[in-house]
Formats: sequence, C-alpha cells, structure tokens
Amino acid sequence: MFISFEGTEGVGKTTLIRKMYDYLEQQGRQVVLTREPGGTPMAEQIRSLLLSVNHEESMAHDTELLLMYAARAQHLQQVIVPALTAGKTVLCDRFTDASFAYQCAGRGLSKEKLQLLNANFVSHMPNITFWLDAPTELGMSRARERGALDRFEQEKATFFEKVRSGYQELWGQQGKRIKRIDATQTPDQVFEQAVAYLK
Ligand SMILES: Nc1ncnc2c1ncn2[C@@H]1O[C@H](COP(=O)(O)OP(=O)(O)O)[C@@H](O)[C@H]1O
Ligand SMILES: [Mg+2]
Repeated sequence: MFISFEGTEGVGKTTLIRKMYDYLEQQGRQVVLTREPGGTPMAEQIRSLLLSVNHEESMAHDTELLLMYAARAQHLQQVIVPALTAGKTVLCDRFTDASFAYQCAGRGLSKEKLQLLNANFVSHMPNITFWLDAPTELGMSRARERGALDRFEQEKATFFEKVRSGYQELWGQQGKRIKRIDATQTPDQVFEQAVAYLK
C-alpha cells in the first residue's frame, strides 16, 4: 500500500501523516514514513537546493521540475520500491501530484513535460492520495507560525491559488485515487476522515 499526502503549505499534511503512521503501526503493519522532495540522503540534498532562499540566481522553472524528478528517481529506487516490494506500507508527504500542482499549475510549465517525466521515471503511483484542502491563507498563516519560510512558502498568494486549483483539477480527473479532506477541520476530524477513506 502506497499512500501520499498532498496540499498547499501548512494545511496539515505532516500532522496527519504522523497520526496515520502511529495508527497503522498499532495495527501491526510495517510502515515507512517519508517525504518529497527528499527521503534519502542524496534526495534531501536536492531538497535543500530546491527550498533554499539563499541562491544568487533565480531557479529556472525547468530546473525546479527536473530537480524534483531527480530527487524522486532516487527516492523511488532507494526507499519506495524496496519498501513496497517488502510488503510495507509507504506514507509519502507529497508525490507526483505536487509536481502537477506546483510546477504546472503554479509555475505554468506544460502538462506534456510532466507527462513525459511521469511516463518514463515514475514506476509506482500511490494507491490512495489524501488531498488536504483549505483556503490558502489559512495554511499560510499556520506555516508562518511555524517559523522561517522556504523558497516555496515565500511565494505570493496568487501562486498558491493556482497550486490549489491544480490540485482541484487533479481531484476532478482522478477522484478514485485522490480523496479530498476539508483541512479547516480539527486535526482529529481530518484523521478520522482519512481513516474512513482507508477502510
Ligand atoms: N487541522 C488543523 N487545525 C489547526 N492547526 C493545524 C491543523 N493541522 C495542522 N495544524 C498546525 O498547523 C501547522 C502546519 O501543519 P503541518 O502539518 O506542518 O502542515 P504541512 O505539513 O501541510 O505544511 C502546524 O503548526 C500544525 O500544528
Ligand atoms: Mg509538512
């Protein structure tokens, strides 16, 4: 079982994934909790490059997309595929839907570029994806309370509106896999709804 967690900044992905991890472990499953971009030492280095605000040049949108997929290739090979092969449950904080939402809907890159990458470099897709959806300002105010903002979190509100509509579009197309959860609810309510979908 491969489960991914999606949504804009501060909607509660990490909060939900931790609860889900504890819940599934208590059920006696072997669970791997991981995240994108990152999840392996090398992919975490790529993450630092992607999230750092201290660059002397602006990052080209294509560079951003390709770094995401470079990290993902490493993550698939080192972590996701071995875990799934061993029968473990993989909980992944963001996956390919985030590339669509951020790099296509947000940055404006073509869907063709993304489809090419998905078709050639993504061997496994999540069985179920939880999309935590809330007004972007709510998530941003939660993220601001968390501390210093990374390169994505520093984007303007209009960018996050585009990202959110990207998720909305995916949900409309792939409603069987992607489950929308109202992220304005309490963390416990969000968790209960996710568990209900899992069952
Ligand atoms: N449902 C919720 N209601 C209120 N606050 C929440 C909720 N979920 C998470 N938070 C808080 O909002 C902040 C961002 O949550 P987090 O899980 O880190 O979001 P994400 O991983 O999606 O960026 C954290 O301080 C967290 O404690
Ligand atoms: Mg998080």
